[in-house]
Amino acid sequence: MPENGEGPVLVADTIVAGYVPGADVLRGCSIEVRPGELVGVIGPNGAGKSTLAKAVFGLLRIREGTVRLHGEEVTNRPAHEMVRRGVGYVPQLQNVFPELTVEENLRMGMYLRPKAYAERSAAVEELFPVLAARRKQKAGSMSGGERQMLAMARALMMEPQVLLLDEPSAGLSPLFQDQVFARVKEINGAGVAVLMVEQNARRCLQICARGYVLDQGRNAHTGAGTDLLHDEKVIELYLGTLARVR
Ligand SMILES: Nc1ncnc2c1ncn2[C@@H]1O[C@H](COP(=O)(O)OP(=O)(O)OP(=O)(O)O)[C@@H](O)[C@H]1O
Ligand SMILES: [Mg+2]
Repeated sequence: MPENGEGPVLVADTIVAGYVPGADVLRGCSIEVRPGELVGVIGPNGAGKSTLAKAVFGLLRIREGTVRLHGEEVTNRPAHEMVRRGVGYVPQLQNVFPELTVEENLRMGMYLRPKAYAERSAAVEELFPVLAARRKQKAGSMSGGERQMLAMARALMMEPQVLLLDEPSAGLSPLFQDQVFARVKEINGAGVAVLMVEQNARRCLQICARGYVLDQGRNAHTGAGTDLLHDEKVIELYLGTLARVR
């Protein structure tokens, strides 16, 4: 598929994967992300959302199904190859090196293109000004929200075409959640396609063009973010009655 074509940037088709032999966590789930799209993945705890992100990024072996990037099959390619091919990934947990400074963390994001560090760090610091003021600070001494900004900045250092975010707002204060969602929209507005896994389902669907509800390793619902937000079944099963009030 040519880069300027109409095809999706990323497709995960009928993925089966798991951690233990004989026990599948993902049981045939599928997602796609089109160029420039912001796509959300929601679902209950244990549904397989993080597992899907890991499997797509080459961190967990896919047993059945395929992953395609710009139409080219990349199933089970290692994570470093996915990075080289334009995929960024921010894990749910342990997504910065706490003993390293902000600058060192950003340099780790650039290990494949060290010469472009100056240019890329200037670009990401424009998006995350808080990091520019804290270059020499150890990541472990920053707040959870600041660390999340650093983790996203690190993934952006390699100029990905598609960014996988696993629960970027988890554990953050409402103020930092707002900031994270605002930055995600900004990153997406700059042309980066985003696949965002979120616990905060309502906030996620509010800003996503399309959303997927995963349940027990399978697609349960798919649709425009705002449609899912108002879908009676999705509200009842996944958003809670509070969603009706809003
Ligand atoms: N490293 C692991 N080893 C074994 N089982 C795992 C591992 N990680 C996750 N699992 C199991 O896989 C299933 C799906 O987990 P996963 O982390 O993908 O869920 P999730 O949808 O991201 O949930 P959450 O909303 O809590 O983050 C769960 O039953 C979980 O216990
Ligand atoms: Mg998870």
